[in-house]
Amino acid sequence: MSNSAQDPATIAIGIDIGGTGIKGGIVDLARGKLIGDRFRIDTPKPATPAAVAEVVAQIVEELSSREDAPAANTPVGVTFPAIIHRGVARSAANVDKSWIGTDVDSLLTERLGRPVHVMNDADAAGLAEVRYGAGHGVDGTVLVITLGTGIGSALIHNGVLVPNVELGHLEIDSAVAETKASASARERDDLSWDEYAERLQRFFSHVEFLLSPSLFVIGGGISKRAGDYLPKISVNAPMVVASSKNNAGIVGSALQSVISEQLAV
Ligand code: BGC
Repeated sequence: MSNSAQDPATIAIGIDIGGTGIKGGIVDLARGKLIGDRFRIDTPKPATPAAVAEVVAQIVEELSSREDAPAANTPVGVTFPAIIHRGVARSAANVDKSWIGTDVDSLLTERLGRPVHVMNDADAAGLAEVRYGAGHGVDGTVLVITLGTGIGSALIHNGVLVPNVELGHLEIDSAVAETKASASARERDDLSWDEYAERLQRFFSHVEFLLSPSLFVIGGGISKRAGDYLPKISVNAPMVVASSKNNAGIVGSALQSVISEQLAV
């Protein structure tokens, strides 16, 4: 299956680089759904740029060998859990510090021999949610917040993503928010759901005061347990659980790879 230069691609590969696993899939961009199973390999330890690039290459190779794979020269979308400015990693809160300053776009483009577009993981999830999921068609500001090892955030205004908004790094009560209210902080401090909800309340009230969103979308692994803490949080904007769950990063990055390619023409 291939696309001519004029046709926007309708399928693309997305890869989600996380702290414990690197996952990839072939994405049907019309529906925002995976075609076939996703493919996962453990994140190497230490997760240096070269080691991670190797695993990304193995995943792309596996996906490319499938019958439904997009044409061999189509761009690959990749998410990374850090600030990504013009393809370069500018932070490393929960990843190997050697990533800071690494041109991830170039590293992976060279390793894969095809164009790669890398973006922040929460931004990818945010794009997936406004295009296909809970934030679809919502006017104003949608904030997608992912609760995981850190706190990721995506700010989308009238459908347009403002990249690299790092709300998890807001300092609230003299602490970086994600060190108190991420899913891993809940486990580390062995918090009850009531105690965790209290910390989230402090975070979300502050964020709402700053940005007046129309909608909060909550993602990350712990969104599966949303029933245990979301009803305890009170904000003005509605709060809903992300629809794309585990695959938001793969879907959002695949979509972005195609958008970036069109903008580059
Ligand atoms: C990073 C963000 C990332 C988030 C979720 C934070 O520590 O600074 O860039 O989106 O974790 O992975």
